[in-house]
Formats: sequence, C-alpha cells, structure tokens
Amino acid sequence: MSEFALEISYLIASICYILGLKMMAGPKTARNGNLLAAFGMTLAIFSTIFLYNDNGKLTNHIWIFSGIAVGAVLGWLAAVKVQMTAMPQMVSLFNGMGGACAALIALVEFPKALEHMEEWNVLFMSTILCGLVIGSTSFSGSMIAYLKLNGNLKKDIRLPFYNIINTLLIIGIIGLTVCLAGNHIEATDFSLWAYILLAAASLYGILFVLPIGGADMPVVISLLNSFTGMAAMFGGFLYDNMAMLTGGILVGSAGTILTVVMCKAMNRSLSNVIFGAFGTGGGAVSASSNGAEQKSYKETNSSDLAVLLNYSQKVIIVPGYGLAVAQAQHVVHEMEELLSERGVEVKYAIHPVAGRMPGHMNVLLAESNVEYDKLVEMEDINAEFSTCDVVMVLGANDVVNPAAKEDPASPIYGMPILNVEDAKTTIVNKRSMNVGYAGIDNDLFYRDKTNMLFGDAKKVLTEIVSELKNL
Ligand code: TAP
Repeated sequence: MSEFALEISYLIASICYILGLKMMAGPKTARNGNLLAAFGMTLAIFSTIFLYNDNGKLTNHIWIFSGIAVGAVLGWLAAVKVQMTAMPQMVSLFNGMGGACAALIALVEFPKALEHMEEWNVLFMSTILCGLVIGSTSFSGSMIAYLKLNGNLKKDIRLPFYNIINTLLIIGIIGLTVCLAGNHIEATDFSLWAYILLAAASLYGILFVLPIGGADMPVVISLLNSFTGMAAMFGGFLYDNMAMLTGGILVGSAGTILTVVMCKAMNRSLSNVIFGAFGTGGGAVSASSNGAEQKSYKETNSSDLAVLLNYSQKVIIVPGYGLAVAQAQHVVHEMEELLSERGVEVKYAIHPVAGRMPGHMNVLLAESNVEYDKLVEMEDINAEFSTCDVVMVLGANDVVNPAAKEDPASPIYGMPILNVEDAKTTIVNKRSMNVGYAGIDNDLFYRDKTNMLFGDAKKVLTEIVSELKNL
C-alpha cells in the first residue's frame, strides 16, 4: 500500500514540476509556477522519507531532518538577502550543491551495489559512474564560476596548451569510466578507482571553467546546470525514483535549451563561449583607447530631458545591465507612471540578453510592479521605434549597438539588436563613454539623433522625476 502511495506521490510531484516549469515561462504565472514546483519537490522528499520502505532502513530521521533544517535555513537566508545583480552567482552556488549531491549519492551507492550484485551489471555501474563524473564536474566548475562572478577570482587563467590538457583529461576520464563499468573489479580496488575518478572529474570541472571569461559565466552556469540535471537523472535511474528522474530530465533539458537560446541571442557558438576570450581583454577596445575621443557626441541634462518627455506622445524605455547595477527599477517605474498620468504612452523594450541572466530585466522590473503588458519583447517592439518620440536607453550598451548590423568585423556582428535609432530622439544614459560587456565601442553614441545623459541611472532618473513633478 505504502509503495502504491509513494508512486502516486511521485507522479503528482512530476506533474507539479512540469506544470511549474511551464508556468515559469510567463511573468504573470512565474511566481505560482515556482511555488507549484517547490510543492512537488517537498511532496517527493517527504513521501520518500515516510513512505519508502527499504526493509525498514530509512529510520535515520534525526540526521535527515537536521540536514533539511540546516539546508532550508541557509537556502532561505541566501535567497532573501541576495541582490538582484548577484543572482547568477547564487544560481551557480545552488547548482554546484546539486552536482555535489549527485556525486555523493553515487559514492554512497556503489559499495552497496557491489555488495548486492550477484552478476556484474554494466548498465547499473555505468549509471553510478556517470552520476559521479558529471556531478563532480558540475560541482567544481560551478564553484569556480561562483568565485569568478563574485569577484574572488578576477583573472581568466589560461594554462599553456589548456585545450590539449583538457582534451587529454576528458579522454582519460571517459576511458577510466568505461573500464570500470565494463570490468568486474573487487570492491576495495573499485573504491580506490572511484575516488581517482572523482578527483579527475573535479579537476576537469576546474580546468574547464578557469579560462572562460567572467562575463561569459551565465552561459557556462546554464551549461553546468544541464550537467547537474543529467547527474540527478542518473540518480533517478539508480534509485528507480521517478520524481528524481523527471526532475533531472527537466533540469538537464531546460539547461541545455537555455544555453542554446543564450548563444543564439548573442549570435555566438557554444565553442566560441568556451574557447573564445569575449569581452575579457583580447581585442576589446574602449572608447577612450581607440581614438574614439576624437569623435564628437551631444550631451543633454535631466531638466531638458524632463521637458522633452513631458511633451512626447510615445516613449520607449530600454533597460540594460546598468539599470540593475544602479537599482533604479523603482524610480524608473515612478517616472513611467508620472508620464502615463500625463497621457504619454510608455513601454519597455526587452532584449533577450539584456543584463546578465535570462529574464534579468523582466525580473528587475517586476520587482517594482511594472505592469507585465508594458514589457514588450524585441521582435514585437522593433517595429514601434519609428513611431516613438523618445527612446531612453538606461544602462544598456551592447543590445543597442548598431555594429551588430553594420560591421561584419565586430564580435557582435549578427546579434539581433533593438532598433533604437529609428526613434525621433535617442537618449543614452550611462556613467561614461566606457564599453559594455562585449568590450567594444558603440557608434550609436556619436550619431546625430543621439544625446548622452551621463550619471548613475538612479540619480538621473530621480532628478527627472522631480523635474517632471515641477512641470
Ligand atoms: P552592457 O552591454 O554590459 O552595458 C551596460 C552599460 O551599463 C555599460 O556600458 C555601463 O556603462 C552602464 N552602467 C553600468 N552601471 C551603471 C549605472 N550605475 N548607471 C548607469 N549606467 C550604468 O549591458 P546590456 O546592453 O544590458 O547587454 C548585456 C550584455 O551581456 C550583452 O553583451 C549580452 O550578450 C551579455 N550577456 C547577457 C546574458 C544574459 S542571459 N542576459 C548572459 C551572458 C552575457 P558605464 O560604465 O559608462 O556606466
């Protein structure tokens, strides 16, 4: 009876994950989707604890609940305290923990499997070893990604011949995995080799992520996320646990799809992300270092802009990474409401890779209760720029760089961008003429219809709001 109840609860949990993930695709349903998936996970965990009957062995409740309590408190505190701009590193840390769990499950399981196995089962041993290898790679890689994003590891360390070293290491790991899975080995020897495999896979995770530019970490995290999903999926096979299997498959496939979507939106291949040095120095030029200071640009100020906005009919706001850095989401919403009250139509143009993580701008603006239907995706808003009076580019750079359309030599050539130039007037707010993530100059700043508004986004928006109130 309890086995039947367990299977049913796993089925319900799996359905919750799938529906939750589907709901996370839209801003209106994302919050409930997250709660539904979390409910599914909670159900799966507690059903396993109370309904799973491995000959009455699952009685270690004090250890289990102590672990759950520590994990829940730490996770809750981390999630409550995290700054929006520090979200990618938190995802990386949590992902690493998932990888470590999968590797530990494999380590704990293989001695038991060897004990009970009457005949050497290649498939079963392969499952354990794959969980071990992928989980430990994901753990160590995620930790390096975390240190890089958190600013603890500032340099992109490229060992000489790192590509050859990494390739040899991965060939060695695959070879050892195949040998161990395919040959009947004594338990003590197997233990030793399993630990060697764990060390080699952890080393690979470190060497794989170390040379990748800090700015490319979101793509790498998404890739490592798919690794963790796969490792969890192997755990699901191992335990014959449907909820773990479904969860692993969903995380693995979602991570893979996200990696592909991000690469596509940046018009870069995955190998370019992994082996290229994008925005990390090589080839990167800044406005002040490539003679750009000879080009002239126009400047405006907050009070002139407030007047212009006040008498406009349609304004489109382009949020970017700088808006998140400045934490200016609340004040931009206040400005939008003031303009809307005066009959100005205001929309936000959302580029798929604006910011530093998928959906960064949607989450940022949702935090300040901007109405969802005011957030318009790039494909839909691009045709509207020609019908608007003022475009306000707030802390965005690469996603509005015309080089993506005009300069075949540019590293971002081919990346779809927001056509902000089509508007009557383009205002660009940033603190200086410095480059953005891709490390390249932006010709938009020097064009006839563009006016630069220098300063921290929160500070200038606060000034504009107070000017508007006085008009
Ligand atoms: P960026 O090109 O990085 O430009 C951000 C701009 O914000 C900078 O030029 C900076 O100029 C300005 N800024 C920084 N702090 C500011 C502040 N306090 N106030 C006002 N401005 C400030 O950002 P973007 O246009 O959003 O493009 C995102 C980039 O990240 C793309 O190249 C994309 O490919 C990449 N990327 C995105 C993702 C995802 S999934 N979103 C993942 C990986 C990579 P100043 O220093 O002069 O102020």
